[in-house]
Amino acid sequence: MTTLSSLPQTAKNFMPPHSNTMKMNTPNLTALSPSFSSSSSSNVSTGNFISRKLFFLHHIHIFELFVAVFVFVAINSLRQKKRHGLPVWPVVGMLPSLVSALGNNTYEWISDVLVKQNGTFIFRGPSFSSLNCVVTADPRNLEHLLKTKFSNFPKGPYFRDTVRDLLGDGIFSADNETWQRQRKTASIEFHSAKFRQLTIESLLELVHARLLPVLAESLKYSTQLDLQDVLLRLTFDNVCMIAFGVDPGCLRQGLPQIPFAKAFEYATEATVLRFVTPTCIWKAMRYLDIGLEKKLKIWIKAVDEFAQNVIQTRKKELASRCDDPDDNEKNKQRSDLLTVFMRLKDDNGQPFSDKFLRDICVNFILAGRDTSSVALSWFFWLLDRNPEVEEKILGELCRIVGERDVDELKKEESSETGVVFRPEEIKKMDYLQAAISEALRLYPSVPVDHKEVVEDDKFPDGTVLKKGTKVIYAIYAMGRMEAIWGKDCREFKPERWLRDGRFMSESAYKFTAFNGGPRLCLGKDFAYYQMKFVASSILYRYHVKVVKDHPVVPKLALTMYMKHGLKVNLLKRQGSELQKYFKSFN
Ligand code: HEM
Repeated sequence: MTTLSSLPQTAKNFMPPHSNTMKMNTPNLTALSPSFSSSSSSNVSTGNFISRKLFFLHHIHIFELFVAVFVFVAINSLRQKKRHGLPVWPVVGMLPSLVSALGNNTYEWISDVLVKQNGTFIFRGPSFSSLNCVVTADPRNLEHLLKTKFSNFPKGPYFRDTVRDLLGDGIFSADNETWQRQRKTASIEFHSAKFRQLTIESLLELVHARLLPVLAESLKYSTQLDLQDVLLRLTFDNVCMIAFGVDPGCLRQGLPQIPFAKAFEYATEATVLRFVTPTCIWKAMRYLDIGLEKKLKIWIKAVDEFAQNVIQTRKKELASRCDDPDDNEKNKQRSDLLTVFMRLKDDNGQPFSDKFLRDICVNFILAGRDTSSVALSWFFWLLDRNPEVEEKILGELCRIVGERDVDELKKEESSETGVVFRPEEIKKMDYLQAAISEALRLYPSVPVDHKEVVEDDKFPDGTVLKKGTKVIYAIYAMGRMEAIWGKDCREFKPERWLRDGRFMSESAYKFTAFNGGPRLCLGKDFAYYQMKFVASSILYRYHVKVVKDHPVVPKLALTMYMKHGLKVNLLKRQGSELQKYFKSFN
């Protein structure tokens, strides 16, 4: 039993004085009235007075008890903070801490808890919710999860069920054979020479015919530019070219609103909101066709119509060209994912259904749509704060183009396009690759990811995992763990990626920005090429100055967007500025 003396001092401070003697004093209360036995009326009023007092005392008693219980529970919950990393409240568990963290930088909050808990903690949600999960940033656990026991940690039915309306059975949400089949085919495609050629050509066109003119216009009219928005448009157009073989034109002059791009963006956001809405509620809303679910249906319909249109047009194109030998040659050269999957047959020797083709393309667009653009946005923001890194990148770019024939370089510089970096030059940019990797280490495009446990298991750090448990791996927090990156883990230091001036990659279970194991990002090499090509083409021409006092904070979403975009001013680099670097190599 809890006695007053056994309660901590804080609890005692909450107790009314004499509370432990109250019961003893109660019978004597009547004696406190001087006219207790003088008349019947006074008897009645005295009786009322006593019953009121008793009533009052009874309530004091309940109130006291309530306070005592509250204090006891509060102290007990707060004591648990030491053991579990966060206070655990009856019924609601750790939810109050999560709710208060949602208003601030939630990723920093998760990082702090994980640092204090040596890399892993169990989030205890309300007893009535499905929020219970294990959160980890321990590389040993990640290797176990993503590689060693891969088949025990699929995306799981909960994830698939939540995203099915938008993503169908595409690679991003599928598990087992459905995933394996798409992964195998797409992987062959992603590593083919034809695909590389497609990515190189589409990027060249987008950067030189679209991106740089948009930047030049902003300079001409001295307007501020939301660099994140421009980069998102660039990668959306680019990934649509790769997945569908069509260019939606988001990055055209005047930056138009493209209905398909908007529908895709809204549909993704609304799908993500399902994860924080109780399943029964969003399912009921979907059934009743009301609220956000009604809008989601409209946006998904717009995505489907666009996909259907492209699929039908391509089918006709392929059928008509089959009759024409010249066109047939052109057909063979098409290497976008849609055409590749259209040429293949399923296990029964039948062409893939339109629905399956739609799912494949929509999933690739989702995977490659904004990951590289948000990574580049954080990279440019970090450069603004670390000018010495920008200097080193410029030094590297000038050293690499400086290897070209001087006359040839001068001729290209004075041409309409200016210097166009070549694929073999992009490959040589080790310092730039290190700086982009360092930006991704600190601001990974996918800040947290999740899996579900199939059979009871145990992490290498000893955490017990019950069947059905959700596991969250906190990629953002991993970049802030001294145990992984050392005392300077929060500093932006591209040098940590270099050995003798050459870029050295890290274990995927330590640097998990691209995931790891069998589900390693399929677009990793392409994404590096894309980011290096875009960054070098901009930096060679412009100094990107972030607008003073522009607030830069991450948005809570599947991808690590900047909540308020990245407002910048561009300053043209003068030839004399670049000459400084060229001279240092001669
Ligand atoms: C900086 C750029 C990028 C980053 C940081 C990144 C990161 C990731 C991550 C963390 C995953 C695992 C997601 C999960 O399973 O939940 C992933 C998967 C994937 N990524 Fe990327 N990605 C990038 C760019 C791209 C691009 C440009 C493409 C395609 C054009 C792409 C295609 C894919 C695909 C297809 C998957 C699914 C792989 C699978 O489940 O087997 N990614 N990526």
